[in-house]
Amino acid sequence: MNIAKGIAYAQQFLAENLINDPYLNAKADSYLLLQSVTGLTKSQLMAFDDRALSAESQQKLTALLQRRAKGEPMAYILGETEFWSLNLKVSPDTLIPRPDTEILVEQALMIAKAKSQQQGNVSILDLGTGTGAIALALADELQKCGTKYRILGVDLVLGAVELARQNARQNHLGNVEFQQSSWFENVTERVDIIVSNPPYIDSQDVHLQQGDVRFEPLTALVAENQGYADLQKIIENAPRFLQPQGWLLLEHGWQQGEKVRSFFSENLWHSVQTVKDYGGHERVTLARLA
Ligand SMILES: C[S@@+](CC[C@H](N)C(=O)[O-])C[C@H]1O[C@@H](n2cnc3c(N)ncnc32)[C@H](O)[C@@H]1O
Repeated sequence: MNIAKGIAYAQQFLAENLINDPYLNAKADSYLLLQSVTGLTKSQLMAFDDRALSAESQQKLTALLQRRAKGEPMAYILGETEFWSLNLKVSPDTLIPRPDTEILVEQALMIAKAKSQQQGNVSILDLGTGTGAIALALADELQKCGTKYRILGVDLVLGAVELARQNARQNHLGNVEFQQSSWFENVTERVDIIVSNPPYIDSQDVHLQQGDVRFEPLTALVAENQGYADLQKIIENAPRFLQPQGWLLLEHGWQQGEKVRSFFSENLWHSVQTVKDYGGHERVTLARLA
């Protein structure tokens, strides 16, 4: 089998086995899987598509296709994904970063730049950092524009903390630290901005049985009290870890905006607002400490 036949075989296998997956892009996934087993880039695969695929590559391809046919997300199979402009390692220890979370990064970045203009530097805490996606996207942008910043990312799961550290090294990002902590438990300093994309799905939600989330850990997805427990806990405790006029930005489910806004008590928080995602759904709520 040569590369061209390998691509065609993979494409057909995925199309036949993932017939009910509305997001399937069999051609793109086939190239990514072939890239993974051969170590070649997409352009090399296209330029040398008459080159033979070794027996070992063919075996590896079949194994990866079988995992994909069971619905395992491409990011877990490849061990990496793109977020913002970064390439991030992923693992079943935590969530695969989603494009919707870029809304949170955009909002936090605007506030971080304004804060650093006012005071010459900015400090940020990312709660439930996972792969480090939010913390590292912010570090990348702040580093590029020469802002003085310090970022701490924390996660309950040690495997996620180690993954985030690896991602910081891989993307050559400094002034970002990661440590294990259950929310604020091991946090000792006040910061200018707290960001978080905490678990917010109700344990009874039928979506937990569908698509990529079936393969992701419940620690990253599910929260008690119909998905609101961690959002509420973070909002209640954040004032003790924020500088005066500090900001809290939270990602949440698209139907949770109203209730999340109600958790911000009026005498403590100002400028409570919810921002919509690219699909027009309420996705991120932010507020400034009085
Ligand atoms: C929805 S994922 C978000 C991951 C990452 N920030 C992102 O946006 O891709 C939630 C993360 O919160 C972490 N987490 C869950 N409970 C936690 C807790 N009590 N303290 C700290 N982190 C927690 C999970 O391990 C997971 O990495």
